[in-house]
Amino acid sequence: HTYVAIMAGGVGSRFWPASREAKPKQFLDITGDGRSLLRITFERFLKVTSADKIFIVTNGKYQQQVLEHLPEITENQILCEPSRNNTGPCVAYTAFKLRAIDPEANMVIAPSDALIMNEMLFADNINKALKYTAENDALLTLGIAPDEPHTGYGYIQFLGEGGADGIYPVQRFTEKPDLKDAKSFLKSGDYLWNAGIFVWRAETVLKAYEQHAEEIYALLSQGMSCYNTDKEQGFIDEFYPQTPSISVDYAIMESAKNIFTIPAQFGWSDLGAWGALYGESPKDDAGNVIHAEKVVIDDVHNTYIRGPKDKLIVVGGVDDLLVIDEGDVLVIYPRSREQEIKQLRSRAGEKF
Ligand code: GDD
Ligand code: MG
Repeated sequence: HTYVAIMAGGVGSRFWPASREAKPKQFLDITGDGRSLLRITFERFLKVTSADKIFIVTNGKYQQQVLEHLPEITENQILCEPSRNNTGPCVAYTAFKLRAIDPEANMVIAPSDALIMNEMLFADNINKALKYTAENDALLTLGIAPDEPHTGYGYIQFLGEGGADGIYPVQRFTEKPDLKDAKSFLKSGDYLWNAGIFVWRAETVLKAYEQHAEEIYALLSQGMSCYNTDKEQGFIDEFYPQTPSISVDYAIMESAKNIFTIPAQFGWSDLGAWGALYGESPKDDAGNVIHAEKVVIDDVHNTYIRGPKDKLIVVGGVDDLLVIDEGDVLVIYPRSREQEIKQLRSRAGEKF
């Protein structure tokens, strides 16, 4: 009854200009190991279940790319969303489909952009979580020990006591707190970051939608008899776009009472922007990370350089920069201001 769903419908706009609308970051070899993020995530889950039980949820326009990256799967394993409505509707759709395939479906739903350092420990944690949710009506999320008051994550207040086998009940879930709250959460020591990797039975999470996200539930439950039949896509194309655009964290995690967490130790990094990739990559003696083949540098420090195979990149006398040459766009930016790249991308316009 074990299923895995990988969410791969984001645009990855903070990784512009490498990440483009037509080919967002999940389809790119971001880390330089020769595989796309989607491929890395898929292979990681082969330690949890077989290829025929791994599903990909994404925007319809990426269906062909998914098949190219994952030749092991079939079209029926790709859930095609007609619109981008964030992860709330995406998770509900996935749960309806998996429950139609198997009423006992016990599932992991995970993003396609996290870096996991210890894949064996990761698989152990996931298997422990699956065992728990198979037997309990629990919404389980993997928790990460926080090391800064980051405001881009969900925060999980867990009860240090009462946990059995490393699984703890969650007192409160707060999605993307403001800096003041994030600081006090960090200081208190009883909060974890939400990794955004969720484990539950399809039935359990659908119950949570019915209780806490009535609008999504009402719209998507109308097609109960369509899921996993040839009527599914037609139903989804008509009704999915009407669902409210909201993340699963706000839609159910902030309200549900049956939340549990496993404080994870496998080493995790959210590959949210260039700085995170720089931070996680091996560096040369001067602190540079170079994802390019032909580079000449002189007196350059703590800089990230990325370029195509056939282009010589020469950089001299600068520190703390991002130098990213991709297709028809070259971006040079201070590393500390990477968050602004998303806005620059909008200014540069869609055609880039
Ligand atoms: N299929 C599909 N459809 N996937 C989507 C959609 C969508 O409409 N929107 C986002 N995704 C995918 C993204 O590609 C990513 O893999 C994952 O869902 C999470 O979305 P993000 O947009 O990256 O979420 P976030 O980073 O703001 O916050 C989430 O992740 C954090 C950890 O990285 C939350 O779960 C936080 O609580 C969590 O801390
Ligand atoms: Mg994210």
